[in-house]
Amino acid sequence: MNENMQKEPQSETAGEADGAVTGSTALADAAVKSVPSTASYSQKVTCSKEFQYFQIEYSKVLAALKSEFEGYVFRNAPMNTELMLNMTRELYLSCKTTLELFDMLHNMRSSDDSVYAHSLNVALISRRIGRWLKMEAAELDTLTLAGILHDIGKLKISDEILNKPDKYTDEEFELIKQHPKFGYDLLKSLPLDAHVKKAALSHHERCDGTGYPMGLTQDDADDYAMIVAIADVYDAMTAARSYRSPLCPFQVIANFEHDGLSKYKPKYILTFLSHIASTYQRNRVILNDGRVANIVMLNNNRLSKPIVQFADNTCLDLSKEPSLHIQSLL
Ligand SMILES: [Fe+2]
Ligand SMILES: [Fe+2]
Repeated sequence: MNENMQKEPQSETAGEADGAVTGSTALADAAVKSVPSTASYSQKVTCSKEFQYFQIEYSKVLAALKSEFEGYVFRNAPMNTELMLNMTRELYLSCKTTLELFDMLHNMRSSDDSVYAHSLNVALISRRIGRWLKMEAAELDTLTLAGILHDIGKLKISDEILNKPDKYTDEEFELIKQHPKFGYDLLKSLPLDAHVKKAALSHHERCDGTGYPMGLTQDDADDYAMIVAIADVYDAMTAARSYRSPLCPFQVIANFEHDGLSKYKPKYILTFLSHIASTYQRNRVILNDGRVANIVMLNNNRLSKPIVQFADNTCLDLSKEPSLHIQSLL
């Protein structure tokens, strides 16, 4: 197990502690020579060779997840959880920093919105949260597998309902809310760590009791499920939807702040949001009034509203400007 621990990139924690260093080595910066200076942050990332490599490896893992899930759920074949875990861990390790991992994931979004892509994203993000929480290698593997398998119950619901573009009927929504139980039933007899099964059952539970299917509270909810829950919501918010573009990380932080941090375990949500914010803390951004600025200092009480600096060197504290927010990364 220590071997895995050593394979986890040590630079990732250093990079996050020092956003300036991480930001200055962003893929978007690395790719800037080969793309026009007018290209968006996203275009610069997708032009990088790291992204092109990631895209190929990501597709291989997706194909494996699809084959293993479908074989198990529809044909009663054994599911090779070790294979899925190893492939996901390798993909995770191919990203040297948090910024690289999130740049990759944010830009994979438009190409695949399947349960498999979502499950893989949740596994990768959960593993990163586990690293921030200083979990051990064996725990990180359990957490990663919990992310991979958290939505397997959705395979028991028809694609027609799952991918319905319109609003769900009450009956359809009640069925969708059963997917954690379907997932638990699929996993309960397998020789898996109990946290993996509990994560499938309770990743939609919330610490304030507002979740489903059981309305558990913080004291009853499984810790791994509560980490997967944060990764799950983050992935859903940053995915492109038919009715909106993907949100930028600062809008996601604002959404978490708005929805109420009490829904999540304080230690986990605060760790997650502060690392996300510091990952992007040297980025250039566009505000919702169209102005371009650099983030110069984070506000720990309001992570979605940092202090920014404009080209003329004037600074603005966004937390004191209710009408202004960060619209996108540049
Ligand atoms: Fe779910
Ligand atoms: Fe999910």
